[in-house]
Amino acid sequence: MAGSPVNGAGGPQGRAAGRIRRETMSSETASDTEPAYTSLYFPQQSPVSINYLAKRHNVTVPAIDQPFSYLDLGCGNGVTLNTMAASRPDCSFTGVDMMPDHISNAREDAARGELTNVEYLELDFQGFLQHDDPQFDYITLHGVYSWVSADERRNVRDIIAKSLKPNGLVYVSYNTLPGAAVLAPLRDILKNYTDTLSGSLIERTREGLKYLKFLKDNDALYIRNNTLVGAAIDAMFQQDIRYVAHEYLADTHTALGISDVADEMAEISLKFCCGARLGSVHAQRAHLRKFQGILDSRPDDVAREAVKSVILNEKFRADIYARTDSMPGDTTSNSDFSGAVFGAAHLKTWQPRTPARELTSDILKIFEAAAPGELELFDLCAIDELQSRSPETLSDLVHHLVTDEHLRPFTAPSAPATNGENGKYRIAHAYNRASLADRLVQTGRCFLASEVLGDGIAVDMISGLFLTAITKDEVEDPVTFVDEALKATGREWRRKGVAITGPAERTALLTREYENFRLDTLPLMMRLGVVVID
Ligand SMILES: C[S@@+](CC[C@H](N)C(=O)[O-])C[C@H]1O[C@@H](n2cnc3c(N)ncnc32)[C@H](O)[C@@H]1O
Repeated sequence: MAGSPVNGAGGPQGRAAGRIRRETMSSETASDTEPAYTSLYFPQQSPVSINYLAKRHNVTVPAIDQPFSYLDLGCGNGVTLNTMAASRPDCSFTGVDMMPDHISNAREDAARGELTNVEYLELDFQGFLQHDDPQFDYITLHGVYSWVSADERRNVRDIIAKSLKPNGLVYVSYNTLPGAAVLAPLRDILKNYTDTLSGSLIERTREGLKYLKFLKDNDALYIRNNTLVGAAIDAMFQQDIRYVAHEYLADTHTALGISDVADEMAEISLKFCCGARLGSVHAQRAHLRKFQGILDSRPDDVAREAVKSVILNEKFRADIYARTDSMPGDTTSNSDFSGAVFGAAHLKTWQPRTPARELTSDILKIFEAAAPGELELFDLCAIDELQSRSPETLSDLVHHLVTDEHLRPFTAPSAPATNGENGKYRIAHAYNRASLADRLVQTGRCFLASEVLGDGIAVDMISGLFLTAITKDEVEDPVTFVDEALKATGREWRRKGVAITGPAERTALLTREYENFRLDTLPLMMRLGVVVID
């Protein structure tokens, strides 16, 4: 039997229930207030992705190639907003959050990146309602709507009703049913336990994790009989402790079914448009196919999505809503992408991941056509082998590649990828230089702003360090530079679960990584305008 959980953070304290207390991360043990949230970029919040999905669902969308305005409610540390602002300098971005640390972190991040098209307001939703602001084309909330009280949700809807432009779009994510239902007791168990401890919120969260581990290791049946609960506990040990504290110890949290949210949005004349996830849908696609008959028989999109939530046991959803006056109909239309341009998001060959074999060769052809540059649907019609396909089918095939994250919508022409030997490589945007210098090592990867995508693109630690190496005058050998930089992070470098420690092995692997970087990543980053040659 595992050892019993420790009350190491202090004895029972009998705190009254209230909001989790405020705390700055820099002094995790010293103060006793709420820690700042994690600093991550959420690509599903990007207007490019929102527009792309809404348009596939036959919704009139704001013109993505024209200046637009964007409001993020509960913007946290502003990383998503700042990255978007860097990739769309012609547009204006506003972030609202009531937590002073978040707003000051977001402003500092924007200042480091020399951004002039983003503003942050330290206000709660009620306060923002009184604020005199213009209307917005996009209003988003990520990780907010099911973490606030019903009154705050009402305030959010009042803001949307007041501040969304005609044809504007809303992105909202929330903990959902049925998946999150089984996690509700887990929150209560953790909160009831940690409320009896003293110490900072982070200390109490750490102690709470030990407590959960004890329950799990000793086969508490609630955990053993609910695999999602066991998986959630295992995941907590991998997650940023600030995320765990915010996610599991907040006083107000709920899980909302898609129909509940759709009903609430209908009160302000918003209509469900579609789910907002782009990535990682291939596994789901195959599973959902078995239920196609049931899904087709549902009366509308919300009912269909509610069944999908059951089939996939969803615990978190992200959805797009549109004003009812921007909805021409309920049917999915995917043919109106004339003029839309798509380009390769990475250069690895597309691998079929679904059993849709009859489409495999067509998809490969589309991928090959897109890999060296970008393409319009119109270009595809000109490819001999694809001429028998209708525009709808071609649009579906492109969508397949988009959801597998091989193709991305482009909002500006891409740049040529040329050899930098006669010039010097440079990271074009101050925001990206700051992200590579600060965030890459903190979070193990970061998103870089691309004006070609009008959006961010993910860069892993090694690619990010190579980007830094090739743009620094003093670096003679990028492989040695990256090796030293990796060691300086203090993190283990692992491949397939095994730590890479031997110097010769490290050098050989990094040399291979550098070759891949020069062949794949660097040309892509140049085409996306992230790297330029002076
Ligand atoms: C879980 S965090 C999500 C932050 C950010 N959207 C992200 O995904 O990184 C929730 C955010 O909502 C903010 N928030 C919660 N209630 C709020 C309210 N009533 N008014 C303004 N901000 C609020 C919190 O301060 C916090 O930054």
